Amino acid sequence: MARITASVYTSHVPAIGAAIDLGKTTEAYWKPVFQGYDFSKQWMKDNAPDVIFLVYNDHATAFSLEMIPTFAIGTAAEFQPADEGYGPRPVPKVIGHPELASHIAQSVIQDDFDLTIVNKMDVDHGLTVPLSLMCGQPQAWPCPVIPFAVNVVQYPVPSGRRCFELGKAIGRAIASFDTPLNVQIWGTGGMSHQLQGPRAGLINKEFDNMFLDRLIADPAGLAQVPHIDYVREAGSEGIELVMWLIARGAMADIAGGGKPHVAHRFYHVPASNTAVGHLILENPA
Ligand code: DHB
Ligand code: FE
Repeated sequence: MARITASVYTSHVPAIGAAIDLGKTTEAYWKPVFQGYDFSKQWMKDNAPDVIFLVYNDHATAFSLEMIPTFAIGTAAEFQPADEGYGPRPVPKVIGHPELASHIAQSVIQDDFDLTIVNKMDVDHGLTVPLSLMCGQPQAWPCPVIPFAVNVVQYPVPSGRRCFELGKAIGRAIASFDTPLNVQIWGTGGMSHQLQGPRAGLINKEFDNMFLDRLIADPAGLAQVPHIDYVREAGSEGIELVMWLIARGAMADIAGGGKPHVAHRFYHVPASNTAVGHLILENPA
């Protein structure tokens, strides 16, 4: 059977992608951001997954106001890096895993969650920046990736509670796939940031660190936080954090298994307009 071995959580930020692509990672401003991922790049090599289930948000790139799926699963064989205005990032195309993705769609929809099935989709910085942070600049990404896009851009957005429950259903789906695969689930986006209006530039270190603490130790309680609290405390774009609850909901302890091991924790301000947060949680063997 397939098994979730670990979950990874990280902010995205387009400027991080640009810093990597333009060779600026050792500049004074960026160095402390990338140092936080030195451990993670080695960890990825030491704990190479067969598949990554990558929860992220599209930023009006693949989707627009014409069509707003709350939860969309990428079932295609491959996904091209999107042109976000300056041309596509010079990163490898993303190879999908149509068999596992279709199985998850079947299982999760029969488990009462509505997913949009997407057979053609370009992937923006929400997906490619986490891959770059964790994998560096390889010729090809180390394994297939199933993109799972969550609408946290256009209201109404899903609650943290629903995301956490969905994570549980995704965990059940992966555990019932009849092939021995080592699967990682990644929750991305956040941490606190606001890109618009009078509060643009908002960062809340206290909230972010409380979120990291509770994501590790009290995820069911954290899942009860209403969306308005994210907006008040973490800024309008801080709502991206609900995606981390999907990955956390798929971990073993939530289904009655052992507690995860915190392999790595990192927090840094600023990167562009956001706080950068990062966690690696490993399921017990
Ligand atoms: C920034 C952060 C984001 O999450 C995003 O999607 C776009 C921009 C920023 O910090 O500038
Ligand atoms: Fe974003």
